[in-house]
Amino acid sequence: PSSTSHRIAVIAGDGIGPEVVAEAEKVLDAVCGPANIALEKTPFPLGAEHWLATGETLPQVTLEKIREHDAILFGAVGAAPGDTRIPSGLIEREILLKLRFSLDHYINLRPSELFPGTVSPLRDPGEVDFVVVREGTEGPYAGNGGVLRQGTDQEIATEVSLNTAHGVQRLVRFAFELASRRERKKLTLVHKHNVLVNAGHLYQRTVNAMAPQYPDVTVDYLHVDAVTIFMTTDPSRFDVLVTDNLFGDIITDLAGAITGGIGLAPCGNINAERTAPSMFEPVHGSAPDIAGQQKANPVATILAAAMMLEHLGHGEQAEQIRSAVRSDLEDHGATQRSTAQIGDAIVAALPA
Ligand code: NAI
Ligand code: MG
Repeated sequence: PSSTSHRIAVIAGDGIGPEVVAEAEKVLDAVCGPANIALEKTPFPLGAEHWLATGETLPQVTLEKIREHDAILFGAVGAAPGDTRIPSGLIEREILLKLRFSLDHYINLRPSELFPGTVSPLRDPGEVDFVVVREGTEGPYAGNGGVLRQGTDQEIATEVSLNTAHGVQRLVRFAFELASRRERKKLTLVHKHNVLVNAGHLYQRTVNAMAPQYPDVTVDYLHVDAVTIFMTTDPSRFDVLVTDNLFGDIITDLAGAITGGIGLAPCGNINAERTAPSMFEPVHGSAPDIAGQQKANPVATILAAAMMLEHLGHGEQAEQIRSAVRSDLEDHGATQRSTAQIGDAIVAALPA
């Protein structure tokens, strides 16, 4: 195959971040080499440790350098909860949220698959393989709110949910495109439009208006509370779910829980218009309790690397990684292994 090259910003971060990112890089190198895909990786030291050492969170010049890349592979940032040396929320606001908003990561994509050899807390989960497409920059998380008369009985606190037609359209477009590429071609809109009539109807009208352009996609609607029931009682009914920022935050945690754990769940923070690099990461944090001990499961980060390759146009290599993860989990899912041993085993399970 002819050679293609991509510039990848690598933000390994704190705690187990560098340990799991090292394994993802190992797997990326192993699939990309034979396919003639060159990844030019630039490491960026960012996170709590970096702040302690330098007083920098994410300076504008660094952000602009990151912006020049084709994608970002991200581990995790943050110190141990209760580490009083670091102001609460500083790392989240000045690194994670700053990246998400500056690079317009308007889609938060979270696949949930119950892998073989993995134990779900559900007694009879059936086959679980769905993707949540969560809005990433609007809704109640847009920062439109305030407080008056704080600390008094007359306190007023607001968080206004912001939903733009543009924002909902580009989200729903992405979800339809994704559903139309998947085998079952089913899209479920998740909202609460019986009560949240303004935002809910904007979402519903947007889905209704776009549906005729995707005649092979089956469209469905569920209130978010009903989704929590079905995700627990019948998760195999779902294929692609599209929802707002708040509902997406909640149902993706539930989705992570039913598929057997935090060490397996990847996510993509995606700018589908490609005006800035998208970012791929494990859902979990820096796990200070197990950092530096080779106890972290690197699978979530390895699957995030697969999502990154898919985003860069290398679906075949992404699927090779996912197949290797599936076969490794099937053979060794319950075995105690070090972070590097799991990475090595996944490399060994790749096609020769
Ligand atoms: P956490 O996800 O780091 O850890 C929660 C629990 O899950 C811990 O017991 C940990 O040992 C375990 N765990 C996490 N990842 C694992 C893996 N790959 N393999 C095996 N076990 C794993 O969440 P926590 O403890 O609330 O947060 C720790 C730090 O991470 C905080 O500073 C937090 O702000 C930050 N954080 C960063 C995120 C990011 O960078 N996107 C996301 C979530 C938290
Ligand atoms: Mg969350």
